[in-house]
Amino acid sequence: MKFCRLLVVLLATTLSMSVFAVARPANVGDFSLLDHTGKFHQLSWYDDQKAIVIFIQGNGCPITRNGAITLKAIRDDFADQGIEFFMLNPQPQDDRDSISDEAEEFNYDFPILVDESQLVAESLGVDRTSEVFVIDPKTLRVLYRGPIDDRLGYESQKLEAQNHYLRDALTAVLSDAEVATGAPEAPGCLISFPARDKYKNTTISYADDIAPILMENCVSCHHDGGIAPWSMDNHKMVQGWSRMMKEVLMTRRMPPGQIDTHVGKPIKDVVEITPEELQMLVYWIDAGAPMGAGERDPLPELTFSDSLFALGEPDLIYNVPAQSIPATGLIDYRYIPVELNLDEDVWIKAIEFAPGDRKVLHHVIAYLQSPADKSAGGRDEGDGRDDSIGGFAPGRQADVFRDDSGRLIRKGSNLLLQMHYTTSGKETVDETTVGIYLHDKPPKYVMSGGVAGQRRFMVPPHAKEHELEGEMLVESDAYLYAMTPHMHFRGRYMNYSAEYPDGTSQMLLSVPKYNFNWQFSYRLEEPLFLPAGTRLVARGAMDNSAQNPFNPNPEVPVVFGLQTKHEMFFGFNTLRYVGDTPKIIGAMEISEKNSASES
Ligand code: HEC
Repeated sequence: MKFCRLLVVLLATTLSMSVFAVARPANVGDFSLLDHTGKFHQLSWYDDQKAIVIFIQGNGCPITRNGAITLKAIRDDFADQGIEFFMLNPQPQDDRDSISDEAEEFNYDFPILVDESQLVAESLGVDRTSEVFVIDPKTLRVLYRGPIDDRLGYESQKLEAQNHYLRDALTAVLSDAEVATGAPEAPGCLISFPARDKYKNTTISYADDIAPILMENCVSCHHDGGIAPWSMDNHKMVQGWSRMMKEVLMTRRMPPGQIDTHVGKPIKDVVEITPEELQMLVYWIDAGAPMGAGERDPLPELTFSDSLFALGEPDLIYNVPAQSIPATGLIDYRYIPVELNLDEDVWIKAIEFAPGDRKVLHHVIAYLQSPADKSAGGRDEGDGRDDSIGGFAPGRQADVFRDDSGRLIRKGSNLLLQMHYTTSGKETVDETTVGIYLHDKPPKYVMSGGVAGQRRFMVPPHAKEHELEGEMLVESDAYLYAMTPHMHFRGRYMNYSAEYPDGTSQMLLSVPKYNFNWQFSYRLEEPLFLPAGTRLVARGAMDNSAQNPFNPNPEVPVVFGLQTKHEMFFGFNTLRYVGDTPKIIGAMEISEKNSASES
């Protein structure tokens, strides 16, 4: 009997403990999420702040709606003291649209991070909405978790709170004092975690579930001889790298070139890890990245072409002068002219780069300099007024036009290559080759290059989000095929919209976290018709702050220029003007529309 009573007491204490002293995860991992407006946020980017407040939001929860009012008042008092406020929505039943509707109805003027995979909420140990977290962005330590205050309960509300837990916690943070513990558990609406619950009872198979995701999204670079520094050659390699994989997946550093798939037009071959895939990868990694007995490892069986050009033997091959690359240090962009020595006009169907040393060559952009450009005068070499006709970046496919389309290169034209190298810890010489593939007769359609760009700007020192905009008027009916955002180290994000003559507009592409290492060309699944008078607008921002790890010097203002210490803001694009047919009168003539396409 006595023993029984003891048990009851013990049980009661454990129960009350779980109610009143919520276990604090000592640390959260760094993470990146898009908010309900599509903007990218990474926790560690805010490490110049004293604290980050994250309020768990869920549509339809009365305590959340009510608590948000208090949160706003606290934000208004603390926001200019180095505290950054967010909401985070992990509810599986909510999505970006419904969250935006709720935000509008209840006037939430916070960025609401949309935790589609629920993995951030899980790592924080979230159970109910309305709980609030205070995180130290330098150490990623959770300093406080619990309710905002004690005003709200289930179906109950007090006029005034007696305990102002969040205010007290923030006041303590600002005065470097210890944050009080022992706040009660936050009341709020319970959140379902269907994926977590499913994988409690379902084993994730390495061969059937995990390896296919890696083959689809990672192995093209992570193989022997590929651009990435380590290869996913077999299970053992993947297992060894698995915790690092989790980190780059949670911060969205890999795979490179991600776009916001909630907006814009469908893009060809875009790499995307879906929330479901992310869950599977992370649960598998957390379980120790095992391979079950009897599973056959598909990775060692993969083969990769080692031919220089993926498109086969080119019609014209040019060797880029050899470039010596030191073992370490930062290398400025190199601008290297390549003479084409054409004795007649040609129609190109594709251009492909065979990088000499993939470990150091990060990207190439090929600018076409036609003879007309020179005689027109005022065209500085390589300032981007010339068309970009293709390029190389790891993971970027060769620039191939459709069978019936091509671009004209006039006799006397040359290429100017913008070549960006990074050092690899080993001195090397890069000997890159350019392959050009020709149509043997003029194609049906003439492709043109355009740019929605901005050249007159000054990004002030330490500016975190200096917005820029460039536009291009589409003067006659055209079809858009591809978009290639181009900025340097400070580039933060870029999106493209079409603003139609009837006043409507449409987002075409959003790259929420631009990275200059990856000069991807985003090709539309279907060419998009742009009626004459459409304005193609590129909007984006530069990050000239110390928060940008690529920024060589946050102390100086940055203006337009060729080198990496300068900036560019170009929304390159590939389009075809309707009726822009090849003209051949003796030697081929450049079509007028073709030159009109330049801004
Ligand atoms: C387009 C090529 C490409 C693809 C696709 C790619 N990676 Fe990488 N990955 C790289 C390169 C290049 C690096 C080296 C980055 C650097 O220079 O720091 C790298 C580095 C890494 C690292 C080491 C950490 C680091 O930042 O250096 C991990 C882990 C990783 N990748 C995981 C993945 C996973 C997982 C996928 C698929 C979901 C993937 N990568 C897809 C090119 C790629």
